[in-house]
Amino acid sequence: MKILVCGGAGFIGSAFIKNHLKANQDSKITNLDILTTGSNLANLKEIQDNPNYTFIKDDICNESITDSLVKQTDMVINFAAESHVDRSIANPKPFIQTNVFGTYSILEAVRKHDKKFIHVSTDEVYGDAQDKSSFNEDSRINPSNPYSATKASADHLVASYHRTYGINCITTRCTNNFGPCQFPEKLIPKTIIRSIKNLKVPIYGDGSQIRSWIYVYDHVRAIESLISKGRPGQVYNITAYEEITNKSIVEKILDILKKPHDALEYVGDRPGHDKRYSIDSTKIESETGWKPRYNFDDALHQTVQWYLDNQSWWEPLIDKNTLHPQPWTIK
Ligand SMILES: NC(=O)c1ccc[n+]([C@@H]2O[C@H](COP(=O)([O-])OP(=O)(O)OC[C@H]3O[C@@H](n4cnc5c(N)ncnc54)[C@H](O)[C@@H]3O)[C@@H](O)[C@H]2O)c1
Repeated sequence: MKILVCGGAGFIGSAFIKNHLKANQDSKITNLDILTTGSNLANLKEIQDNPNYTFIKDDICNESITDSLVKQTDMVINFAAESHVDRSIANPKPFIQTNVFGTYSILEAVRKHDKKFIHVSTDEVYGDAQDKSSFNEDSRINPSNPYSATKASADHLVASYHRTYGINCITTRCTNNFGPCQFPEKLIPKTIIRSIKNLKVPIYGDGSQIRSWIYVYDHVRAIESLISKGRPGQVYNITAYEEITNKSIVEKILDILKKPHDALEYVGDRPGHDKRYSIDSTKIESETGWKPRYNFDDALHQTVQWYLDNQSWWEPLIDKNTLHPQPWTIK
């Protein structure tokens, strides 16, 4: 099988490529990535010389490149996105360009050349979950910030291309990922790195926001299960049901690294901050048999150990912005 992976130099896309090529020696993957913030070709070092892997540095918004690459492939998986909520608050424009126009550019090529398409979206499109309820795939989309609004727009576009043009597509909505190779600006790596460096660890608001977490290799296995068993036109939620407050996560990391809890520093809350994310993934489990394999605490220990063992991976990525305690500035 020939797969075009868009955004494969980022955190989740690179995990997918490594996992897929290891398990499928007859697959060929082309990785189309423009290498923005969040990307890192070092994530793919172990497969860079694999004859079944090709890297192309370009933009998914470039319609002639998406057209020619989609034409040559069997299926497309789109991980490419501007992905950091804080940066979307500071400057929404690149999010609209890549997450909406970029998805359109891929969809047009998929429609023209009649290829299979998996669009990787997020649970953040549902917005806040109330009390103990969880969203399923039929729940109303209700995004709260520019990042999730652009992802929601792309989800609507994908659904409309299925209904209007009959394209063969699947949309996935996964919860927060963590694991090796996650860019240092995100909560878990930022907390680990700042703790290693004995810096204060910032926490937004009172830290009571609840997120549901999944180890990145469980997410990429879920996508694998949809390649073979997903039904065209469907949306699939993906979660490991590990709901936990941001404050608890930071405290767990401080405990693993044997640092005092007074390293924790409360900073102003993120504007539009969702209080709780919660989704139900019964659908993918019942239709494909996929289930998460990692529990949160074990995977968090492994992740902390990975950042301790791989300082040469993250040191070059750090500047005052990536580790800044509160990186949005609303102009
Ligand atoms: N990280 C999470 O917790 C999470 C959870 C659910 C869904 N998602 C979704 O999964 C996908 C991947 O997330 P991630 O955490 O790996 O993000 P990431 O920021 O690590 O990777 C995104 C990749 O897309 C590339 N990219 C950005 N704009 C591009 C463009 N115009 N053309 C080509 N490539 C471009 C970047 O260079 C980068 O390599 C995103 O679509 C995100 O919305 C992420």
